[in-house]
Parts: sequence; structure tokens; C-alpha cells
Amino acid sequence: MGGMIIPSITLNDGTQMPQLGFGTWKLEQDQAYTSVRRAIEVGYRHIDTAAIYGNEVEVGKAVRDAVAAGDVTRDELFITTKLWNNQQHEPGVAFQQSLQRLGLDYIDLYLVHWPCPKQDQFVSAFEGIARIQGLGTVQSIGVCNFYAEVLRRIIAETGVVPAVNQIELHPGFPQLELQNLHRELGVVTQSWSPLGQGSLIDDPVVAGIAAAHRRTPAQVILRWHVQQDLVPLPKSGNDARIAENFNIFDFHLTQEDMVALTALDSGRVGPDPLEFPA
Ligand code: A2P
Repeated sequence: MGGMIIPSITLNDGTQMPQLGFGTWKLEQDQAYTSVRRAIEVGYRHIDTAAIYGNEVEVGKAVRDAVAAGDVTRDELFITTKLWNNQQHEPGVAFQQSLQRLGLDYIDLYLVHWPCPKQDQFVSAFEGIARIQGLGTVQSIGVCNFYAEVLRRIIAETGVVPAVNQIELHPGFPQLELQNLHRELGVVTQSWSPLGQGSLIDDPVVAGIAAAHRRTPAQVILRWHVQQDLVPLPKSGNDARIAENFNIFDFHLTQEDMVALTALDSGRVGPDPLEFPA
């Protein structure tokens, strides 16, 4: 490995974010620790966790140990965590708890995890996160799972444009309208479940394109994200697949490939943010 440079994307606050991140949802305990160490070893510089994943302690320890071992410096890493729904009324408290579990001096990106429209606290939650931003312990702020209406509302009511909206997005669910709104507003789109939680790996269209490029289905799908200026966050607990998913910066899909992948229509794999939590 080594030597492979990940392109970065500039956020609306001027910060640079590596365009591929390592997803950690469902990685627990030892596996969270070893997978994050492995990801950093193969070259990932962007790690995505959340309070609700229950692995901030292990993720943070992996980051600190990687820095202590000389694999990377802290400033080369981009670490994200998220405010869980039951703490939308106390974002400052929740943030400090995450920071403590991670054992880090600062995090790079803090996100409101779900809008939870029925709870209707997302405006003050985002406003609270925006206040923390000035204190030096969080570089950038944003949201996840925000659809157009709630995205426009936080901007109108707080005057702050989130740097990022992290949404479910993959070839079976390309979210073209929301992608366009993000471009218009200057919000970077991060893709969660970029591989459709594995459901697209066996698709024959994906397989055909992968064979043509002598790549794997996962690499083709992740390349589809990168070529649209999206930031995919693939998760894997497997050493070989962690490395496989990183090696996507030395080939190009054709316009035809891109169109064929976007036309796949598997739909959502996760919950609808309008309804969540049910
Ligand atoms: P595993 O952790 O065993 O590698 P997503 O990021 O879209 O949610 O997808 C994650 C799922 O896809 C996990 O089940 C993961 O399993 C699997 N996965 C991750 N990378 C690959 C890959 N390169 N090839 C096949 N499956 C993969």
C-alpha cells in the first residue's frame, strides 16, 4: 500500500476532507479497533463513527494508537462522530461525552444524526452544534439524513449552512434531486451504505462493468460515488475488503458506465428519515 493519495474535497468552511472515508457502523469492540487500525494502515485518513454505534472508545483508541505508533499524525486524520437523537436537547453535553469516549482533543466533523421531525428539536440541536464550533474542539459541522424541507429550515432559522449532509446513497438509490440541492447550497454529500449494504455487489450490471475494468464490484460502485464528487463511507470488518475498497483512485468509469449504474433501482436499504424513528 502506501503512496496512494486520496483526493480531498473542500468544505464550505474552508476545511479539506478526504474524499473516501471508513465507515464503522456495526463494527464492535475488538473488530472496531482492529478494523480502524487496518484502515489507517492501508491509507484511509477519514473515519466515520457515531455515539449510537457504541464503538467510539475503540475507534478513538485505534486512532490514538495509530498516531502513537507513527502510522499517521492526528492532523492527517479526519474524524467524524454524531449526535444521537435522544440528546438533541443537549448537544453540548453529548459532544463532550463523545470527545471523552474517543479520547481525542478535537474532532473534525460533528453531525446531527437524524432530523426526527416528530420530535422537532433539530433546529436547536443544529444551532447548539454551531455554537460548539467556535470553541476549538470541533472543526466542521453538519447533518445526516436531512431531506430538502428540513435542510432548508435549519439554514433559514440558524443562518448556518451545514458543511455536510450524510445520506443513504448508492447506485440503487442515487438521490439525484438532493444531490443537486446540495450543490446549489454548497453542502458536500457523504454517502452512507455506499455499497447498498452489500446488496449491489451481486448485481449483473455491476459485475459486467467490473469485468470490463478488471476491478471488483465494490470498487466500481465506490468509483461511481467519487466521480460524482460524493464522499462514500464503506464499512468492512475484513482485512482484504478494507484494502480493496481503498484502491479506487487509479481507474475511471466511462459516462456510459456511470449512467448504467445510476439507472439501477434497488431503492432504500435504510429507514425513511421522514418517518424515523417510527
Ligand atoms: P464485511 O464487513 O464482511 O466486509 P455498506 O458500507 O454499503 O453499508 O456495506 C457494508 C456491507 O458490505 C458489509 O456487510 C460488508 O461486509 C460488505 N462489504 C464491504 N466491502 C465489501 C466488498 N469489497 N465486497 C463485498 N462486500 C463488501
